[in-house]
Amino acid sequence: MCGIVGMIGTQPVAPLLVDALKRLEYRGYDSAGVATLSNGQLDRRRAEGKLANLENQLLLSPLEGEIGIGHTRWATHGAPTQNNAHPHFCDGIAVVHNGIIENFSEIRDQLKARGADFSTETDTEVVAHLLASLVKNGMTPPEAMRATLNLIRGAYALAVMFRSEPDRIFCARNGPPLAVGHGSGEMFVGSDAIALSPFTDEITYLEDGDWAVVTHDGLEITNSEGAAVERPRSRAATTHAQVDKGNHKHFMEKEIYEQPEVISHTLAHYIDFSAATIRNVPAGMDFERIHSLKIAACGTAYFAGMIGKTWFERYARLPVEIDVASEFRYREMPLSENEAALVVSQSGETADTLASLRYCHDHGLKIGSIVNVRESTIARESDVVFPTLAGPEIGVASTKALSCQLAVFAALAIAAARARGTLATDEEQILIRALSEAPRIAGEVLNEIEPQMVELSREIARHTHVLYLGRGTNFTLAMEGALKLKEISYIHAEGYAAGELKHGPIALIDEHMPVIVIAPNDRYFEKTMSNMQEVAARGGRIIFITDRSGAAACDLPTLQTIILPDVHEMIAPLIFLLPVQLLAYHTAVFMGTDVDQPRNLAKSVTVE
Ligand code: G6P
Repeated sequence: MCGIVGMIGTQPVAPLLVDALKRLEYRGYDSAGVATLSNGQLDRRRAEGKLANLENQLLLSPLEGEIGIGHTRWATHGAPTQNNAHPHFCDGIAVVHNGIIENFSEIRDQLKARGADFSTETDTEVVAHLLASLVKNGMTPPEAMRATLNLIRGAYALAVMFRSEPDRIFCARNGPPLAVGHGSGEMFVGSDAIALSPFTDEITYLEDGDWAVVTHDGLEITNSEGAAVERPRSRAATTHAQVDKGNHKHFMEKEIYEQPEVISHTLAHYIDFSAATIRNVPAGMDFERIHSLKIAACGTAYFAGMIGKTWFERYARLPVEIDVASEFRYREMPLSENEAALVVSQSGETADTLASLRYCHDHGLKIGSIVNVRESTIARESDVVFPTLAGPEIGVASTKALSCQLAVFAALAIAAARARGTLATDEEQILIRALSEAPRIAGEVLNEIEPQMVELSREIARHTHVLYLGRGTNFTLAMEGALKLKEISYIHAEGYAAGELKHGPIALIDEHMPVIVIAPNDRYFEKTMSNMQEVAARGGRIIFITDRSGAAACDLPTLQTIILPDVHEMIAPLIFLLPVQLLAYHTAVFMGTDVDQPRNLAKSVTVE
């Protein structure tokens, strides 16, 4: 989603603003712009498409000025054109915005009736016009800011410059995050700490309803009640080096290959392998007392939740209800204090997931969150935070965050089982031992299967539709595989429960349809084999992802069989996820798509 940066520096800021915007590229965007203030004049450069286009413009026509704001836009209102790109100007005011101004058309109509002339299709432009009209009516910039924030409704992070205020950037937050970075004699504003990492790691996060005035020396924050407030200043864990691609062609590839290491870090946080016990699971979730657990999440995090549900139900005998957060928040489901809620989010900022959290909180439920960004809003609003230790995930398509979310779910399910007395000590130790082997096996599998996945991706790239089938946790992996393939290669794919095949999707099967079957030799194996027979009988081109014993037990003709080691069912999702990710990645590379920033997608979805 949109990214915001701002700087009050001691040298020309335009190139630094672009540098900071590059660190926000991972969020997804379709146009970009920067504005600076120099010698009492605001000026801007904006460009459609990638930041390279903006850089070219700045090369041809540089911007001076030691104070400026910048933006990467992910279009919501109006096409991703240069004209709709931020910053938006009006009478000596420059505005960048992330989020949606919900009452923009009402405000625009009122301003138009008073003679305002709008030049873009964006909701953001009303903020610039509103500020300008209030200043024209005699308000000072801070008064105009306060009044504007009282008039606009919706989710926003804003950074604003006034021509009349050459040493100040005004910013505000209601929903999407905004970080203020402290330098020495210089100050920074950014959508996250990653954007500011080359400049500073001293960060103050604004809270919802806050607005702030940033100067060379510091910041003054006012809360929604109009009171001056201090917000904690913390040292961000994100360093410059961590957002490098290393030797990899794409962040996604790097992140896939980091999985053995980050799974290991995450597991080690929750499991004391030498004592074979779970640790760092705070008692706040009351697993021993609750009657059921609600889970809400979006996208890939939702799939982590589905596998988590399987484990909670199987090992801890704890019923779990899970829904995508955009549905969860509006279902008006009855909730009771005998339940607890878990939300799952890499970014910790996803608008629907946050709204689901708040719904559960308002109904008195204890809230746990599995998040990757510890300073995020979801983390801050949870009663108990279960961090994933994946490090910054830059590729829009989530990979290592999912495996770390699964690692946390595994540990939590075992902790819940222990608290509820549903797992014998020896069974618990078998699960923990299995988990301890996951990072090593994941590393071996990645190296072994890569050549085969590259070869297979050439075949998949020739098709326009692909079907993924699986049962149990492999049904979830089938959906995740289909999601990954469609989001980065733009090939249409569906993930189905293998048992549902004959209730519809079987009509699609002919000799042109690749069918990827994920089926280790587990409790479902024979059932899935029958479904594979049904595909084979109709000439479908089967790609079989299985384990050694599954391969030995299968005598059906397949286009390709990918053979993974036999592993314990608890870690199977962590291992069988890998071919699914690699297949999507290599297919996308083969198709020549923008792997790390696929079209139309955003990394952190801060609008509903
Ligand atoms: C976006 C991303 C997905 C991610 C989903 C949920 O759609 O492109 O990769 O799974 O949001 O994001 P979250 O940060 O809440 O995990």
